[in-house]
Amino acid sequence: MASSSSAAAAASTSTSLCCSLQSPTAAAWRCLLPTSSSSRQSKRFWSACTTIRACSTESPDPHGSVKMPTVGRRRAALVAVAAAAMPLLSALPDLSVFQSQETGFQALAALDESSTLELIQTELRKVISKGKAPGVLRLAFHDAGTFNITKLSGGMNGSIIYELERPENAGLKRSIKVLQKVKAELDPVISVSWADLIAVAGAEAVAECDGPRIPVGLGRHDSVGPDPEGEMPEETLSASALKQSFHGKGFTTQELVVLSGAHTLGAKGFGNPNLFDNSYFQILLQKPWKAPEGMTAMIGLPTDRALSDDDECIQWIRVYAGDQGRFFEDFSTAYLKLVNTGAQWERSYM
Ligand code: HEM
Repeated sequence: MASSSSAAAAASTSTSLCCSLQSPTAAAWRCLLPTSSSSRQSKRFWSACTTIRACSTESPDPHGSVKMPTVGRRRAALVAVAAAAMPLLSALPDLSVFQSQETGFQALAALDESSTLELIQTELRKVISKGKAPGVLRLAFHDAGTFNITKLSGGMNGSIIYELERPENAGLKRSIKVLQKVKAELDPVISVSWADLIAVAGAEAVAECDGPRIPVGLGRHDSVGPDPEGEMPEETLSASALKQSFHGKGFTTQELVVLSGAHTLGAKGFGNPNLFDNSYFQILLQKPWKAPEGMTAMIGLPTDRALSDDDECIQWIRVYAGDQGRFFEDFSTAYLKLVNTGAQWERSYM
């Protein structure tokens, strides 16, 4: 801890950081404060912090303690992260990035996003086991999948928390509960939107099941109510209706096919339910549900089977069945598009 240092003193006067940091995670962040700030760079750094404080406002909470506002808390975490970098910065002869308050602030903003993301990922990894991963990935689709490109409604905005009673979202309360634990842990330290949390959680779910690491960014705002109903594709749709549904969200047929590869996770019979691989496509080519007898008749949703009977889709199914690397690459790209559709972005992260 650095309570005796001038840097820590500056931190406590500049942002009221300490009074809002109480959880174990918060304590860990508090330990990041620097132990000395004698260099020219650090004076500029703390001066930048004071500027940040001047921009933030504090509001009293009903329990008498000062509660930092959303932006203030994020900046407090930002200050702690930047403070952690100060010993390194002080060791350098000069650092041009801190030559003005403005460029210093930009550096802080960059530190903010990557360090905030790391913190979110660390907490998510504690709760997303292989068993919980399929439900968490499905949650991401059900939040983002309401997007309608014509009406510009829906999308990745955290509205799923208001839509859990809808029939298409049956079973997703469990996944929300998993993420609620993470949110409760993070809330005293940083303000993370549901939209960001779900988007990053879906990517973590894929990685937990040995799929690709998908670099999801932060900065999505949450909606304050549910999205319009009737936008999620039903499992009984034909291939052409499915394609139309995805085109209406701004997705191509190739993206429909590659995203459907998420069904490699879960209990629909596409190989190991907790391993993210290309067995979904290999099994679609085999069409085991056509076998005259046995449990194979249970494999896949009607929409999965419909894809394998469509001339355009089958070409992509063949590509991904024969090349897992290509599947991982295209899935990552399409997933990023999915979790960015319809999102309202916070300016500081853009
Ligand atoms: C193409 C249209 C889609 C339809 C009609 C559809 C429908 C469904 C249905 C009915 C289930 C079974 C839910 C249950 O077990 O009760 C399911 C599971 C799942 N879906 Fe989809 N889905 C679609 C696309 C997607 C996409 C694009 C993703 C993600 C990118 C996704 C991710 C998942 C996952 C991971 C599961 C397994 C969940 C679990 O076992 O808990 N789905 N989907």
